[in-house]
Amino acid sequence: MIKFNRPYITGQEIKYIEDAIKRLELSGDGYYTKACSKFIYNRIGKHNFLTNSGTDSLEMAAILAEISPGDEVIMPSFTFVSTANAFMLRGAVIKFVDSQVNSPNMDENQIEELITDKTKAIVVVHYGGISCDMDKIMKLSIKHNIYIIEDAAHSIDSFYKDKPLGTIGHFGAFSFHSTKNIISGEGGMLVINDEKKINRAEIIREKGTNRTSFFRGETDKYGWVDLGSSFLPSEIIAAFLLAQLESIDIIQQKRLKIWNEYNNRLQFLLDYGYKLPFIPSYATNNAHLFYLICPSLSERTELIDFLLKEGIKAVFHYQSLHNSNFYKKLNKFSSSLSLVNSERYSDLLLRLPLFPDLKDDEVKYICDKITEFINNR
Ligand SMILES: Cc1ncc(COP(=O)(O)O)c(C=O)c1O
Repeated sequence: MIKFNRPYITGQEIKYIEDAIKRLELSGDGYYTKACSKFIYNRIGKHNFLTNSGTDSLEMAAILAEISPGDEVIMPSFTFVSTANAFMLRGAVIKFVDSQVNSPNMDENQIEELITDKTKAIVVVHYGGISCDMDKIMKLSIKHNIYIIEDAAHSIDSFYKDKPLGTIGHFGAFSFHSTKNIISGEGGMLVINDEKKINRAEIIREKGTNRTSFFRGETDKYGWVDLGSSFLPSEIIAAFLLAQLESIDIIQQKRLKIWNEYNNRLQFLLDYGYKLPFIPSYATNNAHLFYLICPSLSERTELIDFLLKEGIKAVFHYQSLHNSNFYKKLNKFSSSLSLVNSERYSDLLLRLPLFPDLKDDEVKYICDKITEFINNR
């Protein structure tokens, strides 16, 4: 069976975890947390905080953007539930934007019509690590004085023009979940572009206390100074993560090789009503995922079933949030909300296995089986 995802282990993880245990500094912000943050700072030049998940990072961003009940937050419907939950937990009203015709990313040209005097933030999701048009989005931010939060869960080591994703808006939320390019089991990171927010981020991440400042010797005791939660990961997680980060270039090379192989071998699908990933000229590709857009929902279901019978696990992705039971129950108008492109990606997008250890002959086998499926249609 070719699994959909298999976590890549560099071999250094266990050594670093053992070392973290020997250091007897198991809670957060010790040697390994600092080493990870420094490693990332050296690559992207921005202040960053490790967290326990991409979800944590989005929740921290929502607190830092001072989202309060009744504020409106604009985001794509084609995304993971955490993108919305993080802001709804602070009382925000979510306004969903449709995806583009050519890409699951949100349509930047449909954002402005949703902006009202209650709009506090736009959450941008770079689907599959392929950038949205950030110049257009930052212009809206300046014009309407609203926060931009980049949900960069998929976007490590990917760029908009020359800028690393997650560093362009006010905040960038990354995920190191096992399914991502760089992993720590569960894990995440919040990048802060707005220097004025760094102090508060430190406090929010440490349960609303000024403990971090206390450990730097800046105050003689620490206490409750603000809202906060337990967003700081343990040193064990950070030790695992450092091993992964140190191998980022190898991991990315392996993923890109597989992505390019799929893309070359599957071009013929364009003649059969399929579409392949679209990468705009301003975006780089970090090979987070490889997808096909099938011609119909029934064909996608048949292809998934066929591949499974042949020992290949392929999966669909997000169900549009505006059509979820939870959102419909909360919002009586949503039954009339139609976001045709988002719904199309929910019905037609199919993801193929992609992980660094996927072998050349496995990629060939998967493509051969897709060819066989098409020939037998
Ligand atoms: C777009 C997006 N945002 C946020 C998350 C949440 O990340 P995590 O699982 O690390 O909490 C995910 C998870 O897959 C995601 O796909």
